[in-house]
Amino acid sequence: MAPTSASVLTPRQRFAEDVRRDLDRPQKRLQPQYLYDALGSQLFEAICELPEYRITRAERGLLAANAGEMSAGLASPVTLVELGGGSGEKLALLIEPLVRSLRDVSVDLVDVSATAIALATRTLGRFPALPVTGHEATYEDGLGEAVAKRSGDDTILVAFLGSNIGNLDPAEARAFLGRVRSALRASDRLVLGADLVKPEADLVLAYDDPLGVTAAFNKNLLGRINRELGANFDLDQFAHRAVWNASASRVEMHLESLCDQSVSLPGANCQVLFAEGESIWTESSYKYNEDGIAEMGAAAGFARRDQWVDGEARFAVTAFDAV
Ligand code: AVJ
Repeated sequence: MAPTSASVLTPRQRFAEDVRRDLDRPQKRLQPQYLYDALGSQLFEAICELPEYRITRAERGLLAANAGEMSAGLASPVTLVELGGGSGEKLALLIEPLVRSLRDVSVDLVDVSATAIALATRTLGRFPALPVTGHEATYEDGLGEAVAKRSGDDTILVAFLGSNIGNLDPAEARAFLGRVRSALRASDRLVLGADLVKPEADLVLAYDDPLGVTAAFNKNLLGRINRELGANFDLDQFAHRAVWNASASRVEMHLESLCDQSVSLPGANCQVLFAEGESIWTESSYKYNEDGIAEMGAAAGFARRDQWVDGEARFAVTAFDAV
C-alpha cells in the first residue's frame, strides 16, 4: 500500500495541519498533546507541585507504599515501558523493588516530549547500569518500538500513570487499552493510574489554581502556536476556564476569547475568527470510579490483579494482568 500523505509530514507540518483543522471546527479545539513543548512540560511539572493538584503526590504515595506488590511475580528479565511519564520520579519508585530483588530490568520511555524523556533519563541515572531507551513518539508507536526489540522470554510491565488515560474519552480509552493489550503477551502486566470522581469544588480548583500555573500551562499552547507557526494570538485576550462536566464525568479546559478578534496563523495558512465568549477546548480530564477502571481494563483483555486507592485525594492505581 502506498504511504498516506500523513506519514511523510514533518512534526511541524503535522502540528500545523492539526491546528488548522481543529480551529476550523464549530467547537474550536486543540489537541492536549501539544501542551507539552519544552515550556509546557516545565509548567506541568510546576502543576504537580501545586497544593490543589493532588494527582502526582497521591500516586507517588501509592507507588512508594505498594510498588513491590505491583511488580510481584514478574519473571526476570523485566522490561518496564512507561507511556508519557514526565519526570521519571514515579518510575523510579516502581523500579526500586525490581532492582532490589536483583531482577534484570531495562526501561523504555515513551513520550512525545523530548524534554520529558531527558528529565526522566536523568532521574533514572540514580540506578547505575540500568539500560534506558527513549522513544520520542506517540504512546502506540513508542510501545510498538519497545515491544519490537523484546528478547525471547522477558516480561513487559507497562506503566501508564498520572491519569494520562483521562485525556481520552471512554471509548478511546477502551480502544487504546485494547491496542496496548494486543501489543503484549499473556502474563505481561499493566499498571494504570487514574483519577477518581470527587467533589466539584476540588476538581475545579485542581484545574484552575489560584496561582495561575494551570492558566499559564493552558495559554502556553497559544504561545507555542505563535512561536512555531508565526501566529499572533494575544494571550491577554484569552482567559483560562476549567469546568466540570458531570454528565460526561470530565473536567474540560478551555481558552475563552475575551473579545471579537481575528488571529492569523501564517504557518498553518489560515486566519481564525473568534467571537467574544467563544472558546477553544484544549483538554479533557475524565474521572473514573474504582469499578469503572476495572471494567475498562476487562473490556480490553486485562484482568484486575489489585487496586490501591488514596481515599483522601481520590486516586487509584490498578494493576492488571494481560490474559
Ligand atoms: C497529565 C493529562 C493527567 O489531566 O490532570 C493538569 C494534565 N491539565 N492540569 C490532567 C493537566 C491541567 C493532566 N494529565
